[in-house]
Amino acid sequence: MLHLFLDTADIDEIRDAYSLIRLDGVTTNPSILAGAKNKYGSPVLELKVIYKFLEEHGGQLHIQPVASLYDEILKDAYYILEEVGENVWIKIPVTEDGLAAISRLSAEGIKVTAASVFTFTQGMLAYKAGADTVSVYCNRAEEKGIEYAHVIESLKNAFPDRVLLAASFRTTDQIERASFAGADSLTIKPKLLFQDLKTDLMRDTVANFQFSWESAFKSRNLRRE
Ligand code: G3P
Repeated sequence: MLHLFLDTADIDEIRDAYSLIRLDGVTTNPSILAGAKNKYGSPVLELKVIYKFLEEHGGQLHIQPVASLYDEILKDAYYILEEVGENVWIKIPVTEDGLAAISRLSAEGIKVTAASVFTFTQGMLAYKAGADTVSVYCNRAEEKGIEYAHVIESLKNAFPDRVLLAASFRTTDQIERASFAGADSLTIKPKLLFQDLKTDLMRDTVANFQFSWESAFKSRNLRRE
């Protein structure tokens, strides 16, 4: 079954979503953390609150180091594991330094998500370096004319037993295409995730049902009060 993550660092959004549906965790990146409300004083404290919530309610937390050079990525990763929690997935963009860090951390038994993947080759390298999960960035790929659905399909075809997490969505159509292409997991920003509940089509459809009933029975509910 498809796994669903929230792409946010806002604890209120996480609580709200968990009160409605069953989720599999939360992913963040430095931009998300920089833009978060930061109501606990620092991004690390915010992440600790999220980690604790997920421990209680079930779900993984994927956090990306801010550093981009090998040694610094490792230092950020160990800091995250020490300060936030030992079960965090370390999310690392697949650059040259990133691949080396993925390789090292995976060899140490740390759970790694290879992020910012745009091509089959990048994903293949990350899986071969030991990443648990490869994350294909759909909208960012599409903006550069890359067929992300094809990348997802090719990676799933070559690595059927490994986890493919599709990320970076701007439209619900992209979400559907990523799932159809074979993604195991999706991470979606809360606003986009719930967007289709309040489209004009939904408003018109519900209003149409109410109108039929009201015309026949002069009442706005089934009890006809
Ligand atoms: O989790 C991945 C994601 O945060 C990247 O998305 O929206 O910055 O393209 P975006």
